[in-house]
Amino acid sequence: MLYTAFVILGLLACVKFTAAEQYPFDVTEISAPDGSITAKFVSLGATMTELWVKDKYGKPRDVILGSDDNTLLLTDGAHPVFNAIVGRYANRIKNGTFSIPITKYPQPDGPNVYHIPTNDHNGQVTLHGGIYGWDRRNWTIMAQSPSSITYEHLDVADEGFPGNVTAYVTHSVFNDGILKTVVHANATEKTPIMLTQHIYWNLDAFQDGADDILDHHLVVDASRVIALDGNAVPTGEFVDVTGTPLDFRQERKIGARWNNTDGLCEVGCQGYDNTWVYDKLEDTEGTWIGTSLRSDLSGIKVDISTNQPAVQVYTARYLDIPRKSVHGGPSKVYGRWPGVAIEQQGYIDAINTPEWNVDQIYYPGRNFEWSSTYHFSVVPS
Ligand SMILES: *[C@@H]1O[C@H](CO)[C@@H](O)[C@H](O)[C@H]1NC(C)=O
Ligand SMILES: *[C@@H]1O[C@H](CO)[C@@H](O)[C@H](O)[C@H]1NC(C)=O
Ligand SMILES: *[C@@H]1O[C@H](CO)[C@@H](O)[C@H](O)[C@H]1NC(C)=O
Ligand SMILES: *[C@@H]1O[C@H](CO)[C@@H](O)[C@H](O)[C@H]1NC(C)=O
Ligand SMILES: *[C@@H]1O[C@H](CO)[C@@H](O)[C@H](O)[C@H]1NC(C)=O
Repeated sequence: MLYTAFVILGLLACVKFTAAEQYPFDVTEISAPDGSITAKFVSLGATMTELWVKDKYGKPRDVILGSDDNTLLLTDGAHPVFNAIVGRYANRIKNGTFSIPITKYPQPDGPNVYHIPTNDHNGQVTLHGGIYGWDRRNWTIMAQSPSSITYEHLDVADEGFPGNVTAYVTHSVFNDGILKTVVHANATEKTPIMLTQHIYWNLDAFQDGADDILDHHLVVDASRVIALDGNAVPTGEFVDVTGTPLDFRQERKIGARWNNTDGLCEVGCQGYDNTWVYDKLEDTEGTWIGTSLRSDLSGIKVDISTNQPAVQVYTARYLDIPRKSVHGGPSKVYGRWPGVAIEQQGYIDAINTPEWNVDQIYYPGRNFEWSSTYHFSVVPS
């Protein structure tokens, strides 16, 4: 009994708080018992700010982008959405408009038509939940242990969505280099919900002279991407990746076909900012891996499985943002293609694409569930 009490006290002591940092920038650290993985979070956006895993030499590296000054998450005009939980509706909504039930062309002043503030593509599109999405909201700590943290957020519909939504996210780490993120959300009225976790990866952590992710190897288990119009919203069609630089069914370096990616992310843009639709859904054995990323330099590999049907892969174009000091900042910035965001999510803007028959409307009795597991390992060279 006494022994148990000591163990519990000892475990509690591992949960570190930084007194100087005030809510919602209060930092919580969690670690796996075997020390294979350590993560830090702030309450703003339930955002992961650091993620340390071991490289092929057994040395920990922080493999996600971010800032030493976490208040920038709220104020930075560039708003890269570093590693937050994104909602109530991630990615893009055409003209910031939808109806319930959904229709292809909602009449602006029709019944049950909703308008969310537009913040992308010259006011043509809502991105990541509006001006103040969930990534820029205060979340509240509900529960914690040495290896997990649970936050809650009550979204009171002040961006124009119908009904309140309550969301709970639990971030947990486990032995053998595993990070798991689970989100539950429920609504008081019929509303669209589509979430993601917007982690920017750089598995070298800017060591060994690597400043971008072009030499990272990527696998995406998908034969289709969602076709986009000039505002990066879906046309309703899909593109077969066969024979294109979008085909990552076999492992390829992200930059291997870089010179052929003109226009794939946007007109005049090299790189990727696309939604791949997975060929399979997560199976009950948990053996399926949707996306995999690794680097030869650090030897670090991450295998990602998820209950979500799609994934956005975004090779951040140019982030003119000071790096974390562990990434060589603040004198150096995250420049061209410094990280790759891999965002497990639903079909983008399915609420304006009824021909897909993808139901993203939630209500009392139909709750939203999101989960992803990130398994880190090393590939020796
Ligand atoms: C876009 O939404 C606005 C209201 O936010 C509306 O006035 C406008 O007509 C809509 N545009 C189209 C093409 O539906
Ligand atoms: C978020 O937290 C900050 C700091 O405590 C506070 O000033 C602000 O009012 C809070 N915002 C909301 C929407 O609760
Ligand atoms: C939504 O939340 C607000 C703020 O807590 C509350 O006043 C309102 O009654 C809630 N609405 C519903 C339908 O629960
Ligand atoms: C949402 O879930 C929480 C926790 O289970 C519960 O307390 C709350 O009443 C639920 N709200 C709705 C609208 O279902
Ligand atoms: C892409 O084009 C640039 C400029 O022509 C060249 O330096 C680079 O080697 C090319 N990259 C690949 C992967 O072919």
